[in-house]
Amino acid sequence: MKHPEGDIAEAAVDEPVEAQAESRERPSVPAFEETPLARELAEIHRRKQALAAEALPLPSATRIFTVANQKGGVGKTTTTVNLAAALARAGARVLVIDLDPQGNASTALGVEHRSDTVSVYDVIINDEPMADVVQKSPEFEALYCLPATIHLAGAEIELVSLVAREQRLRTALDQFLNESEELFHFVFIDCPPSLGLLTINAFVAAREVLIPIQCEYYALEGLSQLLKNIELIEKHLNPALAVSTILLTMYDGRTNLANQVAQEVRDHFPKETLRTLIPRSVRISEAPSYGQTVISYDTNSPGSLSYLEAAAEIARRGAPD
Ligand SMILES: Nc1ncnc2c1ncn2[C@@H]1O[C@H](COP(=O)(O)OP(=O)(O)O)[C@@H](O)[C@H]1O
Ligand SMILES: [Mg+2]
Repeated sequence: MKHPEGDIAEAAVDEPVEAQAESRERPSVPAFEETPLARELAEIHRRKQALAAEALPLPSATRIFTVANQKGGVGKTTTTVNLAAALARAGARVLVIDLDPQGNASTALGVEHRSDTVSVYDVIINDEPMADVVQKSPEFEALYCLPATIHLAGAEIELVSLVAREQRLRTALDQFLNESEELFHFVFIDCPPSLGLLTINAFVAAREVLIPIQCEYYALEGLSQLLKNIELIEKHLNPALAVSTILLTMYDGRTNLANQVAQEVRDHFPKETLRTLIPRSVRISEAPSYGQTVISYDTNSPGSLSYLEAAAEIARRGAPD
């Protein structure tokens, strides 16, 4: 590539004297390497290389995560589908269970979830074997999704009168994983924004809880309620459950507030909080409208790289003891 500054210097030689005088008064043009764009490109290149440098370690037993936060709009679904895609891209076999009647995870993973599609509702309420309902996502090899449809909205109430109402997802998932010919390395369960029976089913089915926290005011409000509920589940329904991972999402480094919130979360949860922050990014928010994750929609965008880095951190840390 020609050096841009070189071009300018050469051009100036042929200019009339007045023009040269004028150009001297103009603000000097920085070398391309010093422009913000160049710095950003160099940074993206460095991050891509760091990600490509080492293969991710895959777990020898399935790691099952519930992605939960009773607040809506904090990035649960976005985190679920993008971490799942990032791990599948790195060679893991991954299942996403969409447990939100909105079906946003199903949309982002490009799987069918019309009102007549057999779905997680049939698994939980009608004992439909999960193997007959799980769909392959077109996003990546070995990425699967148990879709949710609008019927799931009624499940919260229907569950109340069912036997073993808190264990239904766990029973179905355990059977599915036991009967799978190949090991699933990761399962992510995307929860609705509430602490009802569906979310309890997710907590009982999982071993790890991943809490996305949006870097904004009131971020920590409601968290103690969530942690108290998880403690209750641990005590009464699932002693193996642990909050293993906290991920800061929608981070805008230009604001002091985001930095303060991030620091506060790290102070409270030094072990659980991932080093990687997910930035606020237009690419991340527009990917679902193409039925895609940002990992396939714009692999080298900063948002995608952040989810790839977060996934690598999760894989390297391994399951909690
Ligand atoms: N890092 C991000 N940057 C920009 N927009 C985001 C980001 N993460 C999520 N969003 C957008 O914010 C909204 C809420 O995210 P979502 O993952 O659906 O939250 P939840 O599942 O907790 O309700 C969605 O429109 C999503 O596209
Ligand atoms: Mg959601």
